[in-house]
Amino acid sequence: MSSIQLRTDIPGPRSQALMKRRNAAVVQAAYHSTPVFIAKADGAVIEDVDGNRLLDFAGGIGCLNTGHRAPSVVEAIRRQLDQFLHTSFNVLPYEGYVAVCERLNALTPGKFRKKTLLVNTGAEATENAVKIARAYTKRPAIISFEDAFHGRTYMAMAMTSKTHPYKAGFEPFPSEVYRIPYAYCYRCAYSKTYPSCEVHCARHLEDTFKRVVAAETVAAVIVEPILGEGGFVTPPAEFFPILTEICRKHNILVIADEVQTGFSRTGVLFACERLGLEPDLITMAKSLTGGLPMAAVTGRAEIMDTPASGQLGGTFSGNPASCAAALAVLDIIEKENLNARADVLGRRFRERASEWQSQWELVGDVRGIGAMQAMELVRSKSTRQPADEETRQVAQYCYEHGLVLITAGSYGNVIRLLMPLVVTDSQMDEALDVLEGALAHVAEKKAALTAV
Ligand SMILES: Cc1ncc(COP(=O)(O)O)c(C=O)c1O
Repeated sequence: MSSIQLRTDIPGPRSQALMKRRNAAVVQAAYHSTPVFIAKADGAVIEDVDGNRLLDFAGGIGCLNTGHRAPSVVEAIRRQLDQFLHTSFNVLPYEGYVAVCERLNALTPGKFRKKTLLVNTGAEATENAVKIARAYTKRPAIISFEDAFHGRTYMAMAMTSKTHPYKAGFEPFPSEVYRIPYAYCYRCAYSKTYPSCEVHCARHLEDTFKRVVAAETVAAVIVEPILGEGGFVTPPAEFFPILTEICRKHNILVIADEVQTGFSRTGVLFACERLGLEPDLITMAKSLTGGLPMAAVTGRAEIMDTPASGQLGGTFSGNPASCAAALAVLDIIEKENLNARADVLGRRFRERASEWQSQWELVGDVRGIGAMQAMELVRSKSTRQPADEETRQVAQYCYEHGLVLITAGSYGNVIRLLMPLVVTDSQMDEALDVLEGALAHVAEKKAALTAV
């Protein structure tokens, strides 16, 4: 039986009524891409307030690699609720926090002694990574990348690239953040072509130290192994080894922001492992808990322990229910081998998407690793003009036909997949059928307009 079951047009009457209340009471800035109010969810399926069943390929922006309400996660949270709900780790410690740190120290890449700090959100994790890196190196500057996203708090915003809607109007930003181009081969900042470019973008860091910021003032380079909000841009194999080597040479720390790439999305627990990136610090959040807020910074023990007692923390950081959920999530990933599943799902998408790419002018680039897959849509394959409006139409067609997915990219022209890794084969095929229908619909509409 099909997972998608539509009883009303989307959005249905109850969703529409709630949207009226939402518009009156909630700030417009708290944007949502799908005008559908949810009632219940399980695995990869959500049921809305009108009784429609939709497939969730956004996963709460990549937080649900283990699916909605995985039974063992819900059970772990329930057990914790029966014990205690909050003390603040800064007042009274508890075992769950320690156990999560032990697990992350063991699971994150790097065969050195590690320590972990728990916080609440991805932005808080990237902010704390910067605090720790500056405290350790006693240097002020941070290098981040074009098209990067590191969160919405002030330092995180400064490190984030995209102006609208994330930064414009919120200036000024903290200083000492310097930006360099990412390995975005489809839109190379230097108009070069891989591999003849010899990965100029990575080597160019040395030039940055001469012309932009002195190497001896740089505390860290913060980088997403694959750009998340920036459009699932996936660097070539040489990029990170070269970048890491240059950083090591100048005693600059490498912070891998695995907030979106983490927890098996790319067919390994952390994308660094597949991309030759050897970070000193790793930031994590999103799918760590299967839906509760929690984030972490894990890194070399000697670096993590530079800030003195009391210098890091927060009232809710490492909440007991989130810790219980995280331990259950890490068990599921291992027991259900979600790494292998991510690769299977990624291959299923790639088979279909490469057909779409040869069939339609609209599908300019197909990229990703494991289940972190995306398509960049363009008006023409030769000009690569971003098809932002068409991308919005594809997403709209999808939710109107029972598939929730979200877009990405600095030009808003990327369709990205963030489905739970527990999605079944038939649900995956159903979702890809809807996506194919959406591309056909938008491509035909475009062709009809051109003919007129
Ligand atoms: C790579 C990356 N870093 C940081 C963040 C910020 O996380 P949060 O929204 O939990 O603050 C995100 C969120 O999308 C992200 O993708």
